[in-house]
Amino acid sequence: MKTVLITGANSGIGFATVQLFLDNNYKVFAHYNQNRNSLESLDNKNLFLVKANLLYMNETEELFKEVMKETERIDVLVNNAGLYMSADTDKDLSIEAFDEVLNVNLKAPFILSKMFIHIMKNFSSGKIINISSIGVKYGGSYSSMFYTISKAALESLTLSLAKEGSKYNILVNAIRVGVTDTDIHKINKNKNMNDRVELIPLRRMAETKEIAEQILFLSSSKNSFMTGSIVTVAGGE
Ligand SMILES: NC(=O)c1ccc[n+]([C@@H]2O[C@H](COP(=O)([O-])OP(=O)(O)OC[C@H]3O[C@@H](n4cnc5c(N)ncnc54)[C@H](OP(=O)(O)O)[C@@H]3O)[C@@H](O)[C@H]2O)c1
Repeated sequence: MKTVLITGANSGIGFATVQLFLDNNYKVFAHYNQNRNSLESLDNKNLFLVKANLLYMNETEELFKEVMKETERIDVLVNNAGLYMSADTDKDLSIEAFDEVLNVNLKAPFILSKMFIHIMKNFSSGKIINISSIGVKYGGSYSSMFYTISKAALESLTLSLAKEGSKYNILVNAIRVGVTDTDIHKINKNKNMNDRVELIPLRRMAETKEIAEQILFLSSSKNSFMTGSIVTVAGGE
């Protein structure tokens, strides 16, 4: 049975990914931070919940250790957890806020990837999928620049890891996710989602399962040659 760790797994894209991987007979380590209610509603013997606040590097390292207590190998790492931040004023664009966004969106994926690649090397096999954003294509807005910068750097990290991983058959890719129907959009109350959807050629948001299907493909044995790719799943944007 293959094993996967999915971060940010209690809601949105992460939760849909958990469900899809369980349906495909993976043993799933589902990471959560504040809430675990959706995960608890899944009654499945192949599901293991692990808590960590990815703002803190020591908790991120602890997450790795907790997973490795339960398994000797991990086949797939999905760095999905993401912190979106939109500043109301220039004062909100503080160094502290910048650090928080970078910690969750960039440094935690870096730490987890580095630690899990070390394990994957022993088996000459592994997949890492980083969840980026279509915002990177457009530069994002001024108020949410920390988020967009973190995702641009995550894409850069993906390319670096893919180079190292390719020596050991570890394939590393990122998905540039377009507007998807999740709670992350509730954070910016000033954003008019109808206007935003009008910019998407398909004229609708993605459903979480549509993103999860792409994550599953990149994780599966069907993907044997794609690495260092930034895949856009954004309805034509
Ligand atoms: N939805 C979109 O339109 C869209 C577009 C582009 C990219 N994305 C990316 O897709 C990924 C999933 O987001 P989503 O749309 O599914 O939204 P979501 O349901 O709000 O999921 C975000 C997840 O990140 C976790 N997270 C946030 N801060 C954390 C922290 N300090 N420590 C640990 N976990 C933390 C949250 O866990 P807690 O709630 O427990 O803190 C939550 O599970 C994110 O990386 C996001 O940037 C989404």
